[in-house]
Amino acid sequence: MRRGAAPVRRVLVEARAKLNLGLIVGPRRTDGYHEIATLYQSISLADTLEIRPRARGFSLAVRIEDVSALPEKAHSGSHAAGRRGTSPRGPRATSAIPTIPRGPDNLVLRAARLWRDSTGIEGGAAFHLTKRVPAGSGMGGGSADAAAALLGLSLLRDARLGRDRLLELAERLGSDVPFALVGGTALGLGRGERLSRVKLARSFRAIVAVPRWRISTASAFARIDRHKNPLTPWSVKLRSAQLLGRKRLRPEAWMRLGNSFERVLGNRRAEFESLVGRLRRAGATDVRMTGSGSAVFGMIEPGIPTSRVVARFEGSEAIFVVRSRTAGLRATTATGA
Ligand code: C5P
Repeated sequence: MRRGAAPVRRVLVEARAKLNLGLIVGPRRTDGYHEIATLYQSISLADTLEIRPRARGFSLAVRIEDVSALPEKAHSGSHAAGRRGTSPRGPRATSAIPTIPRGPDNLVLRAARLWRDSTGIEGGAAFHLTKRVPAGSGMGGGSADAAAALLGLSLLRDARLGRDRLLELAERLGSDVPFALVGGTALGLGRGERLSRVKLARSFRAIVAVPRWRISTASAFARIDRHKNPLTPWSVKLRSAQLLGRKRLRPEAWMRLGNSFERVLGNRRAEFESLVGRLRRAGATDVRMTGSGSAVFGMIEPGIPTSRVVARFEGSEAIFVVRSRTAGLRATTATGA
């Protein structure tokens, strides 16, 4: 701690989710990961991680808050006509966010242990995580929580690790964690950790629909391996992603890159196509899957009220209205006795 500085007694980090505007998967490497080229974009939907000091050890409490614009209406077959509003209706039990590990496997606690072991800084922390980003949906909620823990502990203990050191720790926690730390808009190469900033021609709003099914990232990549037979070679797609990264483009231009995971949906294909169609009919323009799924998002054109798109959406998927953001984490600290 800096001499004379009051101790930090609480850090609050807003940990933002991401969308992959485009995502192409290349060859499997000898380390088991795949080369990818993706455009990451931070969005307004976020978890909140509160961190307070404690003498030793790490603890984690998780509270789930449903901020979806529509509750999932399982088996009802009802549609959304007439429903309005995109604001939270207060916490309620939901299946929009499936169970996440609350024990030592939770990414917050894994990040905390890695931070402690690599910095050697003693002293524990109590984490309170408010979970709003649906887990396992391709929106990077767990990665954002891990990045928030790394930054939050650094602020709590006034440890000035520097950006490169934090990025190195982030990379060890997952391929999407470096982006979660940096945020904004970035082209991700390598396994997603080699980042370069990109400027979008304009900010955007999108509607995100999250189906009930989930898929683990590892099994989605394994599906890609089984389906290998791309018409366009990886080198050509990579080159076009790199060229796109030099221009100031509208988000829709990035979406045209495609998402390789949309091609390996197997028996989920019909459901996916139905969802794309329903998002378009609700008024979304370009529609894509984010990450390895299962969430699907559609652009809302400037000037179109989001409430109208939400009201017109027909389906039982959980719906979120989001905005693009220029940063991934936002931290505030409170000092004093
Ligand atoms: O990096 P992360 O832990 O999120 O990755 C989970 C799994 O997804 C990896 O173990 C790997 O099987 C797969 N993966 C991949 N190529 C990437 C990123 C992830 O094959 N670029």
